[in-house]
Amino acid sequence: MSIILSIIYLIATVTFVFGLKMLGHPETAKKGNLISAVGMVIAIIGTIFFHDFEVPLINYLLIGSALLVGTIIGWLIAVKVEMTKMPELVSLFNGFGGGSALLIGLVEFGKNVGVEDSMKLSSSIITTILAAIIIGSITFTGSLIAWAKLNGSMNDIRLPKYNLINNVFFLGLIVFGTYIVMQGADSFVLIYLLLFAALAYGVLFVIPIGGADMPVVISLLNSLTGIAAAITGILYGNMVMLVGGILVGSAGLILTFVMCNAMNRSLSNVIFGAFGGDSATGAVSAGKTGGTIKKTTASDSAILLNYANKVVIVPGYGLAVAQAQHIIHELELLLIKKGVDVSYAIHPVAGRMPGHMNVLLAESKVDYDKLIEMDDINPQFPNTDVVLVVGANDVVNPAAHNDPSSPIYGMPILDVENARHIIVNKRSMNAGYAGIENELFFNQKTSMLFGDAKSALTELVSELRNM
Ligand code: TAP
Repeated sequence: MSIILSIIYLIATVTFVFGLKMLGHPETAKKGNLISAVGMVIAIIGTIFFHDFEVPLINYLLIGSALLVGTIIGWLIAVKVEMTKMPELVSLFNGFGGGSALLIGLVEFGKNVGVEDSMKLSSSIITTILAAIIIGSITFTGSLIAWAKLNGSMNDIRLPKYNLINNVFFLGLIVFGTYIVMQGADSFVLIYLLLFAALAYGVLFVIPIGGADMPVVISLLNSLTGIAAAITGILYGNMVMLVGGILVGSAGLILTFVMCNAMNRSLSNVIFGAFGGDSATGAVSAGKTGGTIKKTTASDSAILLNYANKVVIVPGYGLAVAQAQHIIHELELLLIKKGVDVSYAIHPVAGRMPGHMNVLLAESKVDYDKLIEMDDINPQFPNTDVVLVVGANDVVNPAAHNDPSSPIYGMPILDVENARHIIVNKRSMNAGYAGIENELFFNQKTSMLFGDAKSALTELVSELRNM
C-alpha cells in the first residue's frame, strides 16, 4: 500500500472514531455524522486513485457509474424518508451492507477454485471468506425480512418448534462450512449451497420475531453487518474497512444491549420470545385494571396548563406517528411565554428506535436543555403540576412497578403518576407496543384527552392563545 493511501486511511479512521463519539450527544450528532461521511468519501477516493495495482480503464467507468447511481438513489431516499420510517431505511441499508460482504466473499472464493495447489489460499483465509459469506447472507435476507415487517407487508410467521429448527439449521451451517474448508474449498456447487442455506437461515431467524421487536433485531443485524465488513477488511488487509467494521459491530452490539436493558428484557427473550408480536393489532390484552376513565377537553386541559407552574411533556410513539413535534414545540413556547416551567421527559425507548424522541424534537428545534433523561426527571414528578403525555403508553405504565405478572414488570418507566395532574393524549383506549392495559389511564389524577396528537395539540394551542 502506498504511503499516501496509508495516511488517507489513517485520517478516515480518525474521522470515524471522532464522528462516532460526537453521535453520543444531540448537539454534536449532526456534525459527527458529517465528519464520518467525509472520512468515508476520502477513504473511497483514496482507494480508487492510490491503490498499487493495475486496473483497466473500464473499471474506473464502472466504479464511477455505480458511485453516481448509488449516491443519487441514497440521496433521494434520505431526503424523502419520514422520521417514523427511519428504522425501515436503516434495515434496508444494513441488508445492502451484508449483501456487499457476501459478494466480496464469493469473488474471493472464486480465486481458490480450479487453481494449482501452490496458488491455493490458506485455510484461515478460506475460513474468513466463508464467515463473510455466511454473516453477509444472514444479514442480507434477515434485514430484508425486518424491512418488510416494519413496513407492514409481512406478519410474524412461527413454524412449529421454530427455535429448535433455527438452532439446528445454524449448527448445520457451521458444520457445512467446516466441511468446505476441510475439503479444500474447490467447489462452486458447495459454496452456492452454503450461500443459499445462509440466505434461508437469515429468513428463518427473523420471521418468528415479533414485528414490534424489530428495532432490537435491526440493531443486532447492524452489528453483524459491521462484523462482516471487518472480516472483508481482514481479507483485503484493509485497515479502514477493519476499523469501520469493528466500530459498527461494537456500537451495534452496545445499542442492542442498551435497548434490551431499557425494556428489561434479555436478548434471548427478544430472539426466542414472542413478546410484542401481536401489538400491531392494537388490541388490549385482558385488562386487570378496569374502572372508569375521566375524559377531558382541549379547553379544560388548556386551563390546567395555563395555571400550572411546572409542566412536563412526555412524548411517545404516537407523537412521532402524528408528526406532532412542531405543534408540541409551539405549545411549549406558548407556556414558557406565560411563565410556566416546561421540560420534556425522555424515556430511553420511547418511540420505536433509539433516540427517536431526541431526533424528532431536535427536528422542530426544541432546546436540548429541555430534554431531561428518565433518571433525572423522575425525582421531579412530585413537584410537577401537570404532566402532558402525548402518544406514550408503555413508558408511563405503572404496571412496570406494581404488577409482577405484567410482561413489562421491572422495565424502568417515567413515574408520571407522582405528578399532581396527568393529561394523556391518545386516540382511543388501545394498547401500545406491549399490547397491555395501562392503569395510569384509570388513575383519579388522570384526564384522557382523546384524539390524534396533532389535532388535539393544535386545539390546545388555540385555546391557550385565547386565554
Ligand atoms: P407505545 O407504548 O407504543 O404507545 C404509543 C401510543 O400512542 C399508543 O397507545 C397509541 O394509542 C398512541 N397513538 C398512536 N397514534 C397516535 C396518534 N396519531 N395520536 C395520538 N396518539 C397516538 O409507545 P411508547 O410509550 O413511546 O413506548 C415505546 C414502546 O416501544 C415500549 O414498549 C418500548 O419497549 C418499545 N420499543 C422501543 C424501542 C425504541 S429503541 N424506542 C425499540 C423497541 C421497542 P391509540 O392507538 O389509542 O392512539
